[in-house]
Amino acid sequence: MNPNLTVIDHPLLQHKLTYVRSADTTTDNFRRLVREIASMMVYEATRELSTELIEITTPVASCRAPVISGKKLCLVSILRAGNGMLDGMIELLPGARVGHIGLYRDPATLQPVEYYFKVPEDIEERQVIVIDPMLATGNSACAALSRLKEEGVSSLSFVCLLAAPEGLAALAAAHPDVPVMTAAVDSHLNEHGYIVPGLGDAGDRLFGTK
Ligand code: URA
Repeated sequence: MNPNLTVIDHPLLQHKLTYVRSADTTTDNFRRLVREIASMMVYEATRELSTELIEITTPVASCRAPVISGKKLCLVSILRAGNGMLDGMIELLPGARVGHIGLYRDPATLQPVEYYFKVPEDIEERQVIVIDPMLATGNSACAALSRLKEEGVSSLSFVCLLAAPEGLAALAAAHPDVPVMTAAVDSHLNEHGYIVPGLGDAGDRLFGTK
């Protein structure tokens, strides 16, 4: 298991996650709940940001108070389901840049192939949070992290809603330096590559496709 793994076991988040999992949850509620959970996960994903003190004046007195300093942020969404987590995160990180990585699985090799890559020009100077609701086999997450390292990114973390042990093991093996945050670690992957019990296909549930 990844020693950098954090499971965000908060009652409010877990309550919302239960309804995200339920097959009875409608598309609009699913979307809203994923956005809300992602927003809560930003707290954990940004816990290590450095701060510096600045001088301010309150209506009562002058004081020194902390603001975020250091590297600027970039959220990188793994298409397409990662986009479901973007809005909730951007709400709390309005200045963050956003990148996108599109990967599909080659049916012959089963390996991820990149079809889209768009990130800010100064990505290597930024602290990058990669987002994808489902860490299943870990192939896409590993490929996305490798690609960002190739671009020179040295400060990376990965945030998902649900993780399978198989995906966590793959990430720990390929990217032991990358902190991983999830709302839950589920049982296993089934023969179709779905997380069990999971929530089904996150992209389909977010976008109302089949
Ligand atoms: N991707 C999904 O959307 N769901 C899973 O269970 C696994 C991968």
